[in-house]
Formats: sequence, C-alpha cells, structure tokens
Amino acid sequence: MNIRLRINGKWITFTVKPDEFLLDTLRNNQIISVKKGCDGSTCGSCTILLNNQPVLACSLLSVRADESTILTVEGHAEEVEKIAVAFGKEGADQCGFCNPGMALMIIALKQSHKNPTDDEIKHYMVGNLCRCSGYQAQFKAIKRYLEERL
Ligand code: FES
Ligand code: FES
Repeated sequence: MNIRLRINGKWITFTVKPDEFLLDTLRNNQIISVKKGCDGSTCGSCTILLNNQPVLACSLLSVRADESTILTVEGHAEEVEKIAVAFGKEGADQCGFCNPGMALMIIALKQSHKNPTDDEIKHYMVGNLCRCSGYQAQFKAIKRYLEERL
C-alpha cells in the first residue's frame, strides 16, 4: 500500500507493508539519520518529530503516519547546529550515535517548556539513552543550548 509523508518539507510517497514500522520505512529510503539503537522501543535513538511531537519511529506503524509531517535533524539544521555547538563546548560529544534522536528531543523540549527546571529537563530526556556518556556533560550542554550560551 502507498502512504504519503511530508518529510522535512517535501511530500514523498512510500510503498509500505501493513506491518512495517516507520523507522524501517525511513531507513530503507535512505533517511538514515534516524537511528535504530534497540529492539524494544527503549533507547530513543529513532526519535523523530511527527506533526511536531516527538515519537519513536520504531514503535509506529508506517500506515498510521500516512499524511503526516515528519521532521528529522535535516529539517531542523539551524537548531541542530546550535545544539552541536553546545555539545562541543561542554565536551558532550562521543560516538554521536544517539545525537540525532537526542537533538530532536531537545528541540521538542525547547518548544514545549519555556524555562524548564533541571528536573524537567532530566525527566523529558529520560527516554534518550547514551551508551558512551555519563549524561552530565550532555545535561550541561542542553542547559547551555536552552540558555543560548553558544
Ligand atoms: S530504536 Fe530504540 S527506541 Fe526506537
Ligand atoms: S555518544 Fe555514543 S551513544 Fe551517545
């Protein structure tokens, strides 16, 4: 069956199976900034913005996303660049595998919370796992980005 998605501003038609998940649809069509980091919907690496809400692409059937608007990091290049600067300044960059999903979650956090407390930031980001860091440098980088100390 065919579905239509508006990805980073461009409408694209995909042929999908009824039981296919959105993560596979995206990655099978060279949208590989969306990462697969687990088999149990537990890592957050596949986070995308679906109709401006953060969603795990590995948990959503592609057919359920038909006619939706999707943003990946390529669709938020300006904010992602600022996040990268903040991560660099705080020494929060390691292998980078978790970064795309984390960046989209950070953008969603900024859009939904005006001045988040430390606890709100930690709570919001709890589903985005990083296998390399101890999270402290990333936490400082998120605060730096939100406070626009770039
Ligand atoms: S791939 Fe791990 S939560 Fe989706
Ligand atoms: S930097 Fe390696 S998984 Fe997060």
